[in-house]
Amino acid sequence: MSDKKATLKIDGIDEPIDLPIYSGTLGPDVLDVGGLTGKGLFTYDPGFVSTASCESQITFIDGGKGVLLHRGYPIEQLAEHSDYLETCYLLLYGELPTAEQKASFVGTVHKHTMVHEQIRTFFNGFRRDAHPMAIMCGVVGALSAFYHDSLEISDEHHRQIAAFRLIAKMPTLAAMSYKFSIGQPFMYPDNSLSYAENFLHMMFGNPCEPSNISPVLATAMDRIFLLHADHEQNASTSTVRLAGSSGANPFACIAAGIAALWGPSHGGANEAVLEMLQEIGDVSRIDEFVERAKDKNDPFRLMGFGHRVYKNFDPRAKVMKESADEVLAELGIDDPMLEIAKRLEEIALSDEYFIEKKLYPNVDFYSGIILKAMGIPTSMFTVIFAVGRTVGWIAHWNEMISGSYRIGRPRQLYTGYTQRDFTPLDQRKPAG
Ligand code: SDX
Repeated sequence: MSDKKATLKIDGIDEPIDLPIYSGTLGPDVLDVGGLTGKGLFTYDPGFVSTASCESQITFIDGGKGVLLHRGYPIEQLAEHSDYLETCYLLLYGELPTAEQKASFVGTVHKHTMVHEQIRTFFNGFRRDAHPMAIMCGVVGALSAFYHDSLEISDEHHRQIAAFRLIAKMPTLAAMSYKFSIGQPFMYPDNSLSYAENFLHMMFGNPCEPSNISPVLATAMDRIFLLHADHEQNASTSTVRLAGSSGANPFACIAAGIAALWGPSHGGANEAVLEMLQEIGDVSRIDEFVERAKDKNDPFRLMGFGHRVYKNFDPRAKVMKESADEVLAELGIDDPMLEIAKRLEEIALSDEYFIEKKLYPNVDFYSGIILKAMGIPTSMFTVIFAVGRTVGWIAHWNEMISGSYRIGRPRQLYTGYTQRDFTPLDQRKPAG
């Protein structure tokens, strides 16, 4: 913290108000506005555009420079040299693991990859055409009905078991939600496989023959999980923190995060990008859609473009774009959607509107193209985002719960009716 302050002179209040300013290790200073309530004032910041909701040491983003650090390590270096479970360790514990620590962490994850057998019948309550995200919201929240020995949030050991269970079981539940939708039998996890290989095994394997997982696809899958692992105080992470601030159990908090992620403005964008590219259909129609995206009277937006924080390239999108080229080349797939996406990016980035609004491709723009090339159905794209992001949600939840925190309870600017007396039914007239 620092001894800097802002002195506020407010009309109608005689005395100026001193508000402390705190500095972090990186990024903007923050103004502590706690003293305003005593003066009868709230801050007003719809969408929390200018609001720091907490102090955190997990992830740093510089949106102007396109920088993303996890515990200080640039995402580009982690994507090139690390893997998803090692990044999970880093996000949870703050340091890269030694070889021994990594082996122990991976071994513990392996002990929790299966789900309670009763959960398998839980799926039968859904229609076969249920969206997998609808299933994940329900099933992940229901984990708190099965694992009563990891619900005491004040117990560090409980929090750690819950973290391992969630990281280990999300791929299993995600693959189950896919298998359920196509009427195929659930696949049990195979702990001899890596995290990403195991996920692809449970997604595309079947009990009648051995799985033959492509190393290229497994590497691409692991990188997709890694690139989605965490992203500071985004909408779904903030949802997890708010749910956790009431003392809700970790499974309920992660289910809340999954629900928030589902929206097309957030994690649902990857599914929306593919639908948009399919709607565009041909490079000759790109200009038409770019014009629609600029038209204020048209609700259409270019999905996969723009970001609340990045006003430069999303560094994850750059890595994802390289992966898309690699995966399609390796698979010998000439996907017209990739050509449309690359052409759309070129046109949008040279268009005055997108330049002025600083709208660049974000993490969701290319991920769908890779997932489609890997044979993942579009409806599973956001589920895969949720699998990768689970560790980030848990890391932030644990950072909050293990420290000092209060229940999150924002206030409002009220513009409704002033107090009025009840009108008996026989005296009421139609409003307006
Ligand atoms: C993710 O927060 C995170 O970190 C999220 C995430 C993570 O890892 O957790 O990075 C993951 O959610 C990435 C974003 C995925 N969403 C999309 O791709 C959907 C399309 N993008 C937009 O809906 C939008 O850009 C948001 C939601 C991402 C950001 O919205 P903001 O910050 O509230 O910005 P805004 O809506 O106020 O837009 C600013 C201006 C507006 O024009 P004006 O009102 O100033 O005239 O830019 C325009 C918008 O109309 N604009 C777009 C646009 N995005 C913003 N115009 C056309 N196409 C777009 N995609």
